[in-house]
Amino acid sequence: MENKITEIKDLIRSLNNINDLKELSDIKVLLLGKKGKITELSKQMGSLSNDEKKEYGKKINDLKNEANELIEEKRKAIETALLNEKLSNESIDISLPSTKVPVGAPNIVEKIVEEVEELLMSMGYDVVDGPEIEKDEYNFEMLNLPKGHPARDAQDTFYIEGEELLLRSQTSPVQIRTMLEGKGKKPIRMICPGKTYRRDDDDATHSHQFMQIEGLLIDKNVSLSDLKGTFDVIAKHLFGEDCKTRFRPSYYPFTEPSVETDISCHSCKGEGCPICKNTGWITVSGAGMVHPNVLKNCGYDPKEWQGFAFGFGAERLAMLKYGIDDLRVFYLTDLRESSNFDRKEAE
Ligand code: DAH
Repeated sequence: MENKITEIKDLIRSLNNINDLKELSDIKVLLLGKKGKITELSKQMGSLSNDEKKEYGKKINDLKNEANELIEEKRKAIETALLNEKLSNESIDISLPSTKVPVGAPNIVEKIVEEVEELLMSMGYDVVDGPEIEKDEYNFEMLNLPKGHPARDAQDTFYIEGEELLLRSQTSPVQIRTMLEGKGKKPIRMICPGKTYRRDDDDATHSHQFMQIEGLLIDKNVSLSDLKGTFDVIAKHLFGEDCKTRFRPSYYPFTEPSVETDISCHSCKGEGCPICKNTGWITVSGAGMVHPNVLKNCGYDPKEWQGFAFGFGAERLAMLKYGIDDLRVFYLTDLRESSNFDRKEAE
């Protein structure tokens, strides 16, 4: 027995020279495995006297604990050494130039839309969506533009099936949809930015597809001066506090009276320049008081309810704000353009 114990002690001592996990595991099996030396020794206990059992039981237990502790200690030390070696081999040279990841820029039309949305939401307006494929009824008829109405010519669009389904030529049908939902009872404050389509030949100021930002307010005791105040707030928010606004009489079948809304030219501050064609003013939207026929069509009693509506061209606002002189830039998907405008703003 004593011989074996000495042999085991030597083996345990030899653990100190081990620097390899595989060797460590081999010795562990040799000492503590099912057929390991310490395990074998424990098995021999049965043949001993009670006194010897006490004596050797303790010795074997101490050996087991010592072996376990030392093996565990060794394992940790070897693993730490391996990790340190790996870390030092894999160190990163932070002085190397990095790979440049191109950074995108927000779409500037989208930015304008979001700016107007945020402002109007803070004034209690909801942002409402509508379908781009629309019924003729909502795009024209209920907006006081019956079939054959001459004002339809200016908004010729793409028809999907026959004469009843089309790509909306304006976002105004979303006004109709919202008023129908209001059932003649609820006041409304909403804007409905979205894509619109027309059968226009593309040039610097026309596009077969463009973005409108329309707004509608329906309530009691609403007047043209409310529209003027609202338009003034939007214009100042987009073009700065010194931006002046004015209304000019106009015609839209769905509003009465109708107006064109102008802002003072931010480039020449109203003095006259090529951008404003020497007038000092730039037209940015159509607007007006909702026509009584439109109110009636949607179930609102015009004697009780009034409303105003306005419609901006989002690209037009972006062109003015960022100094772009060709509408086609927005649809050429040239990333250099949007990042340029973005940089311009940051300057
Ligand atoms: N939808 C008109 C257009 O596309 C713009 C417009 C004018 C919208 C007057 C309105 C409005 O809501 O009240 O030319």
